Amino acid sequence: MHASDKLPRHVAIIMDGNGRWAARRGLPRLRGHEEGAESVIAALRVCRDRGIRYLTLYAFSAENWRRPRTEIAGLMGLLRRFLHNREAELHRDRVRLRVIGRLADLPADVRRDLRRVIEGTSSYRNYHLILALSYGGRAEIVDAARGLAMAAVEGRLDPARLNERVFRRFLYAPDVPDPDLMIRTSGEIRLSNFLLWQLSYAELYFTPTLWPDFREKEFAEALAEYARRQRRFGALA
Ligand code: FPP
Repeated sequence: MHASDKLPRHVAIIMDGNGRWAARRGLPRLRGHEEGAESVIAALRVCRDRGIRYLTLYAFSAENWRRPRTEIAGLMGLLRRFLHNREAELHRDRVRLRVIGRLADLPADVRRDLRRVIEGTSSYRNYHLILALSYGGRAEIVDAARGLAMAAVEGRLDPARLNERVFRRFLYAPDVPDPDLMIRTSGEIRLSNFLLWQLSYAELYFTPTLWPDFREKEFAEALAEYARRQRRFGALA
């Protein structure tokens, strides 16, 4: 077997534990998110160095709108800073930025910055950074079902011909291959409404490490664990 057969093509991450990282140090929660943004940069580096072409990050869930206004504003500011500071690197490494989620929920200035980078990097094919923003897995499936129903009503789709391949075309990023590996940090062992359709066959990796502490070494450990697992997709070995 070729070494790259054991490398995931697509890694999806639930970046959890920023708040606890900060609380343990007596720091405000936003400091945890800031340190978490450094881990995002480290994860991108690992993907580039290893040739992992797709990285999806759960940066803001549909449920995160329930957090205090100041924390939401802090996270949105951090996202804008990330886009501003990292734009040149995304171009250098030919990383295509994409977003999944209900983008319309985001503040106008964040949407504008996202649109600039999304459009500016849209021709790149080497690497894909996919940010899940105002994202919910069930909402994605409902949005797909709505799109499908509309297509059927308008006569563009015959319901009798509906199958998984057709359904997938209505998801937020239909051309992105399903994640091979899903990582969740901070010891929580849940999917929390993340990529419910796409994670059907993914290897799941849970680690007690908090996201701000999840850097190159920790990512390498997750990849080593992935390489040890045997994926069978329901077939016999
Ligand atoms: C979960 O930790 C993390 C988030 C809700 C936000 C994730 C955001 C970042 C890592 C930074 C910005 C992202 C980019 C792409 C620049 P938590 O706050 O739920 O932690 P807790 O469970 O310990 O409270």
